[in-house]
Amino acid sequence: MAKVLIVDDDRVNRELMSALLEEMGEPTLLANNGRACLDICRSEDVGVVLLDVMMPGLDGYEVCQTLKDDPATNLVPVILVTALGDREARVRGIQAGADDFLTKPVDSGELVPRVRSALRTHHLIGQTQTVYALAASLSSALEARDAYTHQHANRVANYASRTAEHMGIRGRERRDLYLGGLLHDIGKVGIPDAILRKPGPLSLEEFQVIQTHPDIGAHICEATRGLGTVATIVRCHHERWDGTGYPQRLADTATPLLARIVSVADAFDAMTTNRPYHLGVSVEEACDELLRSRGTQFDPTVVDAFLSADVPEMAAEVAGALQMRDVLRF
Ligand SMILES: [Fe+2]
Repeated sequence: MAKVLIVDDDRVNRELMSALLEEMGEPTLLANNGRACLDICRSEDVGVVLLDVMMPGLDGYEVCQTLKDDPATNLVPVILVTALGDREARVRGIQAGADDFLTKPVDSGELVPRVRSALRTHHLIGQTQTVYALAASLSSALEARDAYTHQHANRVANYASRTAEHMGIRGRERRDLYLGGLLHDIGKVGIPDAILRKPGPLSLEEFQVIQTHPDIGAHICEATRGLGTVATIVRCHHERWDGTGYPQRLADTATPLLARIVSVADAFDAMTTNRPYHLGVSVEEACDELLRSRGTQFDPTVVDAFLSADVPEMAAEVAGALQMRDVLRF
């Protein structure tokens, strides 16, 4: 069970807050300085930090900033405990990444609800991380069937995310986009190996079977609450700007923007990597192909956003896997 870490150089304050929280069933950990706080946050299951601002050595702002800069601790909510009416302290606290504030002397009626709210936030973040980890496992499981698509989904997720960054897409939408990129081909679990791994050209009937993978994948995602947008990305990632894609033959903006982004990312990665039926082309040749298909296969604005990045540099970076915790820092 995640604990509340109380950080205060004043022993009486520490013990008072600890007693109030323990009485309400919230287990606590205590630290009397900033350095001890950082050590505990890296070694224990801390669900929220109650952080005094004025302390000898590292002050509360420095501790908060350090916690928020460290990928291992940046998702733990921090409540800064400041003097009543100290506006400057709040502004500095926000700049240091504080999530909430309490004023001294701490009101017992306010302390427990604020702490519980922060613990809920931490719990939800934990659940989100679990969903990401599951998505990554699912896509790895799919790719394990086929050596040629190793890390393809991860790269698509990263290309899509970089493109979205150039388009000003942030927060929840960007996280859904990343998951959509990771899971875009998950429906291929429902396609027989004889078709999926066939080295030669597909017959019309076989291609019709392949065309079912977006819907299969969307159904898989729809089974998880909160993945509605991701399911839509998965369903629409083979639609084309000119309306000749599948499964719904949606044209231009009828295909959701996030799916149009994944479509470009997917095509770019497919072009630049070796597959059973073709050798990968260079980054430059793939960019030329995106330009040629701008306005037919692909949304022109998405192609422009993709190409506005330094594509060779982006391709080199994307070749190295992005960590889950980086994704959650959007
Ligand atoms: Fe696909």
